[in-house]
Amino acid sequence: MSKPAEAQPADPLAQLIQKNQFVGWLCHVNYEEALVLTRDDWKLRAHGVPVNSFLVAAASEAPAEIILLRVTGAATLPSNEAADGLKVEKLKQRPAEAAAGGAFSDLAAEQFQLGGLQCRVLGQFYSANGRLRLGCDVESYSSAAGLAVYRPEGAALEAIVNYVSPERLASSREEAKRLGLAGDLPRFPIGTVRFSSTDRLHRGEAAGRAVFHLNAVDFLARRTAVFGMTRTGKSNTVKQLVSVVKHTSSEFKLKIGQIIYDLNGEYANANQQDKGSIAEVFPADTIRYRMMATPGFELILNNFFHQVAEGHSTLRGLIEASKIPRSADLEAFLSMDFDGPRKEDCNTDYEFQRQTAMHDLKLAAYRAVLARAGYELPEGFKFTFEVNPGVRNKVNPSVNPADGMTAQQTFEWFQLVRQIQDELITTAGKSWIEPDTNVLINLLLQKNDQGGYIPGYRLLQPFKDYHAPNRRTDVCDEIYQHLLAGKIVILDLSVGDPVQRERLSKRIARHILRSSMATFNAGQHAPHIVIYVEEAHNIIGRAEPLAEIWPTIAKEGAKARLAIVYATQEVSSIHPNILANTENIIVSHLNNQHEIGELARYYDFGDFANSLIRAQDVGFARIKTLSNPFVIPVQIDRFDPEREKRRGAGGKPH
Ligand SMILES: Nc1ncnc2c1ncn2[C@@H]1O[C@H](COP(=O)(O)OP(=O)(O)OP(=O)(O)O)[C@@H](O)[C@H]1O
Ligand SMILES: [Mg+2]
Repeated sequence: MSKPAEAQPADPLAQLIQKNQFVGWLCHVNYEEALVLTRDDWKLRAHGVPVNSFLVAAASEAPAEIILLRVTGAATLPSNEAADGLKVEKLKQRPAEAAAGGAFSDLAAEQFQLGGLQCRVLGQFYSANGRLRLGCDVESYSSAAGLAVYRPEGAALEAIVNYVSPERLASSREEAKRLGLAGDLPRFPIGTVRFSSTDRLHRGEAAGRAVFHLNAVDFLARRTAVFGMTRTGKSNTVKQLVSVVKHTSSEFKLKIGQIIYDLNGEYANANQQDKGSIAEVFPADTIRYRMMATPGFELILNNFFHQVAEGHSTLRGLIEASKIPRSADLEAFLSMDFDGPRKEDCNTDYEFQRQTAMHDLKLAAYRAVLARAGYELPEGFKFTFEVNPGVRNKVNPSVNPADGMTAQQTFEWFQLVRQIQDELITTAGKSWIEPDTNVLINLLLQKNDQGGYIPGYRLLQPFKDYHAPNRRTDVCDEIYQHLLAGKIVILDLSVGDPVQRERLSKRIARHILRSSMATFNAGQHAPHIVIYVEEAHNIIGRAEPLAEIWPTIAKEGAKARLAIVYATQEVSSIHPNILANTENIIVSHLNNQHEIGELARYYDFGDFANSLIRAQDVGFARIKTLSNPFVIPVQIDRFDPEREKRRGAGGKPH
């Protein structure tokens, strides 16, 4: 089902013509528009002709070219006026009993059945070297040809909506080759073509449905927007995408890492309403993260004893967002940084060693503060740092910190340091305790420089839960490794402090971009990663500075093979620069002219203005992809956890 359209039929054009789907004759055509004459019985036989349906017009059953049309409305035939007059006369004489059923039975009937279809010319199919090609305009048209018009369905419709130009196919093949795949990049089936809200006929039992695919070549390393009013299926679309990308990538042995910023916890957890979640469908390939210890979830948090700078900046964010009164020591603590000395900044090796020793002392004092505040030590953790023999003997000759100390021993060691601090003078005549370390000792011992009481380490106690004592590596790196392995990472952001959440979200995004960019800059192929974000107006909204991490990913991520899928309710809420560079747009119901106006500026979405406002059907989307030169209306498949699980065991999606 998801195999690329590898083999083409002998005559790729003939496959688009289905005799049973004949709906009428082309009366009139120019570069932009066409008028089709049709009849009730022909329309019915072709399972209806809804507004927005595709039509094809051809001179014969083996044509050299085919005009592709989209129905935009009903049209008045030149002969209609006379027929309408006659019809009114007939209706005047019609008895009420006729309402029970039956059409006009006399000769006029045939005339009354005729009608016109107003169409827009979308392009022209022709064949070149045995392959189907689509030009997005008509080169020439024949006014007198009287082309037959069909409403394609099933296989023919599938060929139209899944058309990929030979150029893009070639680039897909090239990319596939780089990735070691045979053939083209895969395609992801996400729904079936649907033209109108009422779909009794065109998607009924007898009608052939057409599966619509998103091509990996369009989707990977590209931007995809998902728009629509609340409860119209945005999250479902995202779930469906995650799921088909996962299934297809497993089938093709193509690693695609996927990361979901799950603001409401709907991807991580089975919720009552939808009975199932991504995590449930792909248990072995999904890793869930949370900011709060929960069974089945990894902690997004870091180990404050190992990732010192990160832990400190977390504390800074939390304290700044709290109402804790600021003392001089607290201010000094907040403005500290924990970057170690750099060799290139030091004049001599000796100077570098001295600065390193001072930095280690500062780290020890900081960690002692954390331990004093009750932050659990990582397993087997010891306080270890070098102190020159002169100082060591003055502080406590029987203890050498280089041998490793417990938290209690370290606390006591700093207590002794404080007692003789005035005597610890360097050869340059300065205090051996540097200012930052001095502040940390103040916090540790709860005494300021004047010897007055301060709350000190107690201020850090409320934030203990942000420290993950069991974590060894940086969480960002761990997540990136999962993505490299083609896993689905869900960041459940439904719990935890909002400031922290935002900071961590950005940090993870920055880490992904940086790591993949580094691979790209080193001349290697970056891994394929797809990032999904909801409520996108918050991060790539109109007011967001474009230099921020999210807009940067949206603008430049493609180089590093990062695809971004962003969902939000309003088209107008997204930064116009980013929207203009979004290759794929998926829109369900919008409820006002302003939003429609924003959207109508792109491609031929204007054709769907009425239907987008009117049809509120869940999952009924209009899709513009990179490959398709025009918008395609699609009913997105419902993400059905049970079916997805079976699919993993060989079931079929449709
Ligand atoms: N294509 C679909 N087919 C059938 N049911 C669907 C489809 N898409 C969504 N639904 C159902 O409709 C409901 C709302 O869908 P969803 O949560 O995806 O909407 P949403 O646009 O993300 O809403 P919100 O703006 O509130 O986040 C869900 O119960 C979902 O199962
Ligand atoms: Mg949603």
